[in-house]
Amino acid sequence: MGQAQNKRVVVVGGGQRDGATIGNGRAMAVLFARNGAEVLVVDRDLDRAEATVEQIKEESGRARSFAADVSQSKDCECIISHAVETMGGVEILVNNVGVVDGDSDGLSLAEEAWDRIMTINLKSIWLTSRACLPLMRKAGGGVIINISSIAALNMGSNLSYGMSKSGVNMLTTRLAKENAPYNVRVNAIMPGSVETPMFYQSMPTDGMTPEEYRSQRTKGIPLGRVGTAWDIAHAALFLASDEASFITGVLLPVDGGIHTR
Ligand SMILES: NC(=O)c1ccc[n+]([C@@H]2O[C@H](COP(=O)([O-])OP(=O)(O)OC[C@H]3O[C@@H](n4cnc5c(N)ncnc54)[C@H](O)[C@@H]3O)[C@@H](O)[C@H]2O)c1
Repeated sequence: MGQAQNKRVVVVGGGQRDGATIGNGRAMAVLFARNGAEVLVVDRDLDRAEATVEQIKEESGRARSFAADVSQSKDCECIISHAVETMGGVEILVNNVGVVDGDSDGLSLAEEAWDRIMTINLKSIWLTSRACLPLMRKAGGGVIINISSIAALNMGSNLSYGMSKSGVNMLTTRLAKENAPYNVRVNAIMPGSVETPMFYQSMPTDGMTPEEYRSQRTKGIPLGRVGTAWDIAHAALFLASDEASFITGVLLPVDGGIHTR
């Protein structure tokens, strides 16, 4: 019996951009399926979602794909109604979509980039949760996991990504409080430096090799390595499991200890 046996899981942002390593969304979808869940893999880019589904099916897991753009409020509602139509319900909702493109410091940041990053990273989580919560309350419980970032605590030189993730943290604790009486648990994971394709998005284009970049990003991480998407996926699997049934409103750093600096 897996830790998510017969749970119906929706992973929003369960595809991934191209790259040599596995992304957080894909790793979570694969790990939930390995642990007995039926998974709806949602992505704006259907091909990316289908690639995740293919990987799950190759391991004899259960998954299907769905295309939705979480910057559109209607799509956020459709994700949940499609999950109900195809799987009959949702026990676990994972909000993984997060973008950073166009972010900058407070003076150079374009208004359009602020709006896009806030909408995709923060507002969408409220909208998918709002669509899913009545269902979970009626069913007598459920779990929501939001993928935040350690940038919520220390945003570095850019403004809107860290601000959006601080918002994700506040939204998580607020929804946890509002929904605890209904046995719906809401937690967030704050990844640190995790070697996903997104990690390499910020690699300098001056000829630095991926190995050099990884080693630069490793400096200052107390545990002496960058993370992998599997580190995030295992945290998500635990938080969603019955073993975590007394845990809600937690903002869990999965960062090799960098938040202790
Ligand atoms: N990799 C890291 O070092 C790191 C660190 C901290 C936090 N995170 C967080 O992890 C999450 C992403 O991890 P990943 O590795 O799965 O990233 P990823 O970008 O590879 O995959 C996310 C998927 O989201 C999809 N997507 C983007 N915009 C969308 C939209 N509007 N509607 C629907 N889908 C959309 C993309 O097509 C992509 O397939 C983000 O929330 C990010 O902020 C990552």
